[in-house]
Amino acid sequence: MPHDFVPQNQTLGKKHWFHVPMMTSGFFPREPRHGLTRERSLRASEQPWLTSDVGAFGIGLYNRLGGYTIGQVFDDPEPSNANAAASQFIDGTLVVKILFAEYDPAAITGPDPLAHAPAWQIQDPLSNSNGTFEVRLIQMDVAVKDPRATETGWVFATFVYDESLPAATPDQRWYNLTPVGLAWGNDPDVTFEGDPDLDQTWINPAVPAPFNDHVGLHGRLNGPVDNPQSACMSCHSTAQVRDGATSSVGAYTAARLLPDNSCSALQQQHWFRNLSGSEPFGQMTTPPDFCVPADPPVSSPPMRPLDYSLQVQRGLVNGVALDHANPCLAHIPPEQLPAAARQNLMAAVEAGELKRTEIESRSIRPPLIQPVRVVEKLSDWKKVGMQPDSREIDYYPGR
Ligand code: HEC
Repeated sequence: MPHDFVPQNQTLGKKHWFHVPMMTSGFFPREPRHGLTRERSLRASEQPWLTSDVGAFGIGLYNRLGGYTIGQVFDDPEPSNANAAASQFIDGTLVVKILFAEYDPAAITGPDPLAHAPAWQIQDPLSNSNGTFEVRLIQMDVAVKDPRATETGWVFATFVYDESLPAATPDQRWYNLTPVGLAWGNDPDVTFEGDPDLDQTWINPAVPAPFNDHVGLHGRLNGPVDNPQSACMSCHSTAQVRDGATSSVGAYTAARLLPDNSCSALQQQHWFRNLSGSEPFGQMTTPPDFCVPADPPVSSPPMRPLDYSLQVQRGLVNGVALDHANPCLAHIPPEQLPAAARQNLMAAVEAGELKRTEIESRSIRPPLIQPVRVVEKLSDWKKVGMQPDSREIDYYPGR
């Protein structure tokens, strides 16, 4: 990508991309340089090219249709008022997530699979130090809400950085990505490695070494960074929260992302059901093991399925369960609050400080009349982006 993944610098096609709010705090906060969050480390025990563990970091971006739904969930400047029930994405929603490996040549053995990979300098998200270190592109995840995936509503795909592909310029190395595979279901009936029933997953037989041997449980789809005891759709099918926030994150999310090692093989199968995004994973029993679904199933307070979005779950955990403040509120210049700019302009006109014609030519910025408090502008805030872009919906095949 010629703009180094800074979406607002993109000029072609005026694409809009959106982050999930409230991922700035909590247990996995964003780092300040590129907004990356810490992911599960790359482990030498799982990666033939590493002699010691290195960190992994990622950032996800939703397209405009996804941005619409995110705006419906986080529709209030007060994050604890977020509306989890609105987390149902529109067909055609697309999410990309790019993942980076901490780059430490001393930890790499054999040919360096990231030798010319795009590099960023980032900060440690958990440290107060502003020192930076280098990370390099290793994986790109994609998820698309697609009605053709009749059992889950989603297609998940992942790509790995491929040093062997030619690139005309260093910039173009963002395109050096080879598909690892696709999954449109959880393959619930697959129970052992090599099971021929794996038919909701396609794995590319030509994934470049050293990333060609890192699949999910029993051959399901995973990227190099992901936990081999899980798989893309399995982990994401746990995206839910339970209304009636408590300060306990476990009580709020009600299920683990993947089964605990202590769960039996049969119990683990519970994580590989084909749930539609509007079906909650369900409340699991409380510690010590979380292996067993609550019986009878819990329905009050209601469980809110989040349609496979673990980022929305994280934003809700931070904003609702942990009751963290919106870190941006104090920093939004009043004139940029929805409708406040216009209000300020009109006040300036009324006060005789500005001519209406000057406003219409939009050539000047208004003097600040008075800071407008966000809460006073709540109704305007909620009007922003209320309509998903109909052209994109019409464009989507099958509609
Ligand atoms: C063991 C759990 C786990 C597995 C396996 C997993 N993910 Fe995720 N994924 C997460 C978590 C947690 C987040 C949210 C936090 C973040 O983005 O840093 C996330 C975020 C994402 C996002 C951003 C949007 C969203 O839904 O939150 C995409 C897209 C994504 N993953 C795709 C994939 C793909 C494709 C695979 C398989 C190649 C995969 N994931 C495997 C846990 C997992």
